[in-house]
Amino acid sequence: MKEQLEALEKRVRRAVEEADAVEKLAELKIGFLGKKGEITQLSRLMGSLSAEERPAMGQMVNQVKQQAEALIEEKMAYLQQQAQQLRLRAERIDITLPGRPVNTGARHIITSVQQQIEDIFIGLGYQVVEGPQVETDYYNFEAMNIPRDHPARDMQDSFYFSPQMLLRTHTSPVQARIMEKMQGKLPVKIISPGAVYRRDEDATHTPMFHQVEALLVDERVTFADLSGTLLAFARQMFGEERQIRMRPSYFPFTEPSAEVDISCFACGGEGCRLCKGSGWIEILGSGMVHPRVLEMSGYDPKHCSGFAFGMGIERIAMLKYGINDLRLLFDNDVRFLSSFWGGQK
Ligand code: PHE
Repeated sequence: MKEQLEALEKRVRRAVEEADAVEKLAELKIGFLGKKGEITQLSRLMGSLSAEERPAMGQMVNQVKQQAEALIEEKMAYLQQQAQQLRLRAERIDITLPGRPVNTGARHIITSVQQQIEDIFIGLGYQVVEGPQVETDYYNFEAMNIPRDHPARDMQDSFYFSPQMLLRTHTSPVQARIMEKMQGKLPVKIISPGAVYRRDEDATHTPMFHQVEALLVDERVTFADLSGTLLAFARQMFGEERQIRMRPSYFPFTEPSAEVDISCFACGGEGCRLCKGSGWIEILGSGMVHPRVLEMSGYDPKHCSGFAFGMGIERIAMLKYGINDLRLLFDNDVRFLSSFWGGQK
């Protein structure tokens, strides 16, 4: 039995040495130390020994067993560590590899110009308010003093949902809405940006476009306040050297009314292609709020007066950025849009 144990011990040592994988070692362990393992079986033979032999042999078997356990455990730890290292190497991530660029968006040029306009008027103390795009006949036309037979009311020119409801054709109805809401309080000092709709589609007209409306109502507001405000706006938007020119015009909701031109920022007024030789560029429509409009929305024209103006955002954007085709603003070709992304906030 002694020789048997010595041989077994050698085999264990050799087998453990040769085991090169966790699974193989686990098998070895079962083979030697499991319930039916060789060492376990040997220790069962102890019963057949004489009382003198037993203690010495018992000690030897125990020694072989403990040694086998220790060897296997040590090798197991080593193999597990090795497997772990292999796994880590396989999962290695090269953090020096340059990342793939993420395409971030940016504001559309119309939004950006709208915000520039808003910022200028916020600086002048105006509140920015919004009105509904689906509007009633009353606010879009009636409250704006637009007569029943006005061509703008025609089915041909407006998008109607019903005789009473339509897509607003301008931002002016917000004038009436805000005055009603203010219930006669002064001052009313708002701008209102947003989309408007007209049945129009050609190289210079899209069925949807954007306007910014401005309304100031207070005691003793004069035409001089209007022109001063417009000059301040023109200079902040198009450069400090700008002059403005007001030409008599007509809108049902203002009296008197004026078209507003700015001195050409391309040639400084000399005359060039942009201003078609005139030195002036039209930018918006304006006027003193018609007494009827004040009255209809609960303001007494004897005690207050106001001015209003409305501008097309696309037109301002095209002028400011030298865009020659309106449709570029709506095609949403990223090659075009991204040409404005440089200096944006
Ligand atoms: N609502 C007018 C338009 O759409 C613009 C305007 C607004 C004119 C306010 C005068 C005063 O053309």
